[in-house]
Amino acid sequence: MKKLTLLIMTCLVMGQVQAEDGSRLWLRYQSVDKAKVNGPACIAADELRKYFRGDEVTLAIDPTIEAEAFKIEGTTISAKDETGLLYGAYTLLREPATQGYQKPYFKYRILNHWDNLDGTIERGYAGRSIFWDLDGDQPKAIDAALVRAYARANASIGINGTVLNNVNASPRILSPLYINKVKEIAAILRPYGIKVYLSVNFASPMALGGLKTADPLNAKVKTWWKAKAKEIYREIPDFGGFLVKANSEGQPGPGDYHRTHAQGANMLADAVAPYGGIIMWRSFVYGANHKGEDRVKQAVSEFINDDGLFRSNVILQSKNGPLDFQPREPYAPIFDNMHKTPQMAELQITQEYLGQSRHLVYLAPMWREFFGYVAPERLVGIAGVANIGLDKNWCGHHFSQANWYAFGRLAWNPALRSEQIADEWLSATFDIDDSHRTPLLSMMLRSREACVDYMMPLGLHHIFKFDHHYGPEPDGYIAHYPLEWCPVYYHQADSAGIGFDRSHTGTDATSQYREPYCSLYDDLTTCPERYLLWFHHVPWTYRTNSGRTLIDELTYRYGRGVKEVESFIDIWHNSKPTIDEQRWQEVDERLQHQLDNAREWQKTCLDYFGSFARK
Ligand code: GCU
Repeated sequence: MKKLTLLIMTCLVMGQVQAEDGSRLWLRYQSVDKAKVNGPACIAADELRKYFRGDEVTLAIDPTIEAEAFKIEGTTISAKDETGLLYGAYTLLREPATQGYQKPYFKYRILNHWDNLDGTIERGYAGRSIFWDLDGDQPKAIDAALVRAYARANASIGINGTVLNNVNASPRILSPLYINKVKEIAAILRPYGIKVYLSVNFASPMALGGLKTADPLNAKVKTWWKAKAKEIYREIPDFGGFLVKANSEGQPGPGDYHRTHAQGANMLADAVAPYGGIIMWRSFVYGANHKGEDRVKQAVSEFINDDGLFRSNVILQSKNGPLDFQPREPYAPIFDNMHKTPQMAELQITQEYLGQSRHLVYLAPMWREFFGYVAPERLVGIAGVANIGLDKNWCGHHFSQANWYAFGRLAWNPALRSEQIADEWLSATFDIDDSHRTPLLSMMLRSREACVDYMMPLGLHHIFKFDHHYGPEPDGYIAHYPLEWCPVYYHQADSAGIGFDRSHTGTDATSQYREPYCSLYDDLTTCPERYLLWFHHVPWTYRTNSGRTLIDELTYRYGRGVKEVESFIDIWHNSKPTIDEQRWQEVDERLQHQLDNAREWQKTCLDYFGSFARK
């Protein structure tokens, strides 16, 4: 209490009380205006002059240092250019004792905004888009200060790219009007080392160019894309490239013309290649060509024959799991199958299937789990589906900020431990002492496993309420929708047991994995329990590792998840004296929602599954 009072008094004296509404994210530095900064005038210099607590810092341009890397020796930061200096400056502000050389692990560290031009955000839970909205039928003016604050936050964690619009892309984004807006945004982001990219609709030449086809082998189509690329690069010379969702969930693509993904991607790749642009082509494709095939196998079936056929500036972007951002999935086997194609992992920062902005779920442990199977050296980049909107605190839930933060830090260094990242974030975001930090850390680190337990333990998946994906619907079946959109397809519960047989006796999805995982997952006795019902249809009477029967183990795990949330509430209540009022209240309310929702999951799922098990 004393510390807080002192802080408030200091702020009052300095005339700079700022509401703790979360808007400052992890960048809550107090301005000290003390340091003398030598070197070029740049954003790094401004930040250090304002916030560095030492007396003097020197910024030095050193052309021998790799792009984006920096070196700190004493209080001298050296880098190739201003972006490197900026990364060095934020590192020094975060950890004043840092010394030595650092460079980002991944070349591409990109946020994917699923923002629509009308201001809504697909799977966004933090308000409307920070980039787009309509003013009548015209694009609304860009809020430069907001976009600058966004850029600063990203630069502080090393993010170097952003896709500004939804993968379900409106062709309008490529109209001159919107290209101009993109140019404005790019100008704000550029000094922070961030490139802009756009999601494109494969049928844009038809919708926008009046062509009769979007066939990638058609000469007019190729010419249209080349001209469009030229137009974009004339306005934005450092434009990053395109992200493409093609022939997926109703989106147009080369398949509409019986062309392959490689043919489609290469046509776009050729259009941006003269300017150094890239194409991020998504592998999230299912349905169309694979009726009846297990959905989790379809990406490999769809892309395997294209391996080696893509241009060198095409990157295949795949979600971490083979289904769709579930609380827990085994890794996606496409990472094992494309040996000649550069790959990127797509992670979901927005918590579509993990309680959205109402549940406190810290995602770094999930992403670290993924890197345990798909070594970072097999990837050229990572993309994170952003959780950012116009909400005052940017992310809806104060603790969801930690996921944005963790994404950036892991993109910089995937070897960082979840605990270290959480600790950094907590220390920067709240003014807490050690005795309170430890329980909060433990809450964050346990939160993802708790979510798995109260939603979908033992490898269950996709038993969410239809469409909005918040809450349970294990009995979900809608006859006129594809079966692979229905929960009953995924859990396959019947009187004999539960789970999806993906072993060699079932859909044989296990055969898409490299050894040892192929054999490990295929055999019920060696399959890790966390993936049990993902890969096997298991009798209700099956004894799990604990000695409990399957239904008893499910009951136990749902209960464990709910208890964890109860204990998070205790931890939060104990931390009340150390957390500022508004943020404490807002988190507290959400924790109560989380508990209600966890109990709903427990009851709905156990009632439903119990009705089979106890027949
Ligand atoms: C999920 C999500 C969709 C999204 C899609 C995608 O299915 O629910 O909203 O468009 O993923 O990643 O393309």
